[in-house]
Amino acid sequence: MPGLAIVGAQWGDEGKGKITDLVAERADVVVRFQGGNNAGHTIVRDGAVFKLHLIPSGILHAGVICAIGNGVVINPRVLTEELDGLKRRGVDTAGLRISANAHLIMPYHLMLDQAGEARLGKLEIGTTRRGIGPCYADKAERLGIRIQDLLDEKILKQKIYAALEPKRQSLRPYAKDPLLDLHAMTEDYRTLGHRLEPYIADTARIVWESLDRDRLVIYEGAQGALLDIDHGTYPFVTSSNPVAGAACVGAGVGPKDIDDVWGVAKAYVTRVGSGPFPTELDGDLADEIRARGGEYGTTTGRARRCGWLDLVALRYAARINGLTGLIVTKLDVLTGIHPLCVATRYLGSEDASFDEFPYHQSIVHKASGEMTELPGWDEDITGARSLEDLPETARRYLDFVSDFVGVPLAFVGVGPGRDQIIATEVAERGVGAAV
Ligand code: GDP
Ligand code: IMO
Ligand code: MG
Repeated sequence: MPGLAIVGAQWGDEGKGKITDLVAERADVVVRFQGGNNAGHTIVRDGAVFKLHLIPSGILHAGVICAIGNGVVINPRVLTEELDGLKRRGVDTAGLRISANAHLIMPYHLMLDQAGEARLGKLEIGTTRRGIGPCYADKAERLGIRIQDLLDEKILKQKIYAALEPKRQSLRPYAKDPLLDLHAMTEDYRTLGHRLEPYIADTARIVWESLDRDRLVIYEGAQGALLDIDHGTYPFVTSSNPVAGAACVGAGVGPKDIDDVWGVAKAYVTRVGSGPFPTELDGDLADEIRARGGEYGTTTGRARRCGWLDLVALRYAARINGLTGLIVTKLDVLTGIHPLCVATRYLGSEDASFDEFPYHQSIVHKASGEMTELPGWDEDITGARSLEDLPETARRYLDFVSDFVGVPLAFVGVGPGRDQIIATEVAERGVGAAV
């Protein structure tokens, strides 16, 4: 029963999309279990770049079922545009399935996200302003509108009315916005519902059937462990749980249906939006890493903050996810940088030091990384296809990381292309069982 979760082990954008696409070749089903179109997952196939926000990263493989699970929040307009965009490029989207229980992002969620950030001013979270937080808030408040509601005009209108009324006060700046008109909104969402209807399905059952047939199911995470609403750097987090445990809830399976958990981490760290970042760099080196790594958001185009690899945070991410395999991406970006640094401890105020990720927000905000220096390399590694192809110092860097975190390496990324990857025996063992 091979269920494999692929999750972000940092603050998102670790390269989950590329890895999911790679492994999806062997899968029956790829199911997204949380988040929404705050995610931006990039896949590079034969030089062509695909940016996915809602559709699972298995969609480029015809025949693979790509399910948007109940835990995802869906903006139906974005989803239909993404579908159209893929179709225009000749991608077969027949494998898409959408959970009838997934919640819908409504126009007022976008406005509330915008207004909430404006209200916070300098304290803003730096959200993607895609309405994610307000949508999950409505879900918890039981005022959410779900995919299945699109199919019945009367129910849809009733539910929009019930959800919209209590928000009128906070939506005052948008009071005259035509997007807030109940009838127009109902009509608009009905039209989108007609478009999506052929894809609506019982996605949990689809996953169970594949698991029962011992086929590979990939639970595709969005965001990353440190953006987790429970375990991340709250309140500078997203509004869902990107950790592997959430795959159970967001896809509709039990803990025993996850056999392997692979955490994806860059060879350095990036973060978009506000919040603590103990190993953040500024100045020339940050600019260099940003330029080389193309560190600009897939979703919002914002420049990503860059810093050294944070092993304190990565070991924490390994623990809360129960990682069985570690994937280090973008090792190529570090070529030519001397020396390389990794944080192996945090330093706080008044000579305090922390070996473990501190639970207290004020400590994390003030923490800086105590660095261990490791030698770099100058050789071009983008053509390496096995660990033996790498310079010795690059291998030492990877060994140091894997030993410190206590998780074996499954893959190493040496470039954005699908083939620019080194697979270890851990990767083969993980997915091999399913083939
Ligand atoms: P995701 O959100 O985790 O799927 O990651 P993003 O797609 O937002 O950001 C990762 C970026 O790094 C994308 O532009 C990828 O094409 C690129 N990428 C992934 N792996 C590698 C790698 O090993 N080397 C390099 N240079 N780029 C990579
Ligand atoms: P992928 O799946 C990086 C960040 C936002 C902000 C915080 C809250 O591509 O890794 P939200 O809009 O979710 O309420 O914003 O979370 N964030 C991401 N950062 N990658 C992502 O997704 C992200 N999704 C949300 O920048 O700091
Ligand atoms: Mg991304």
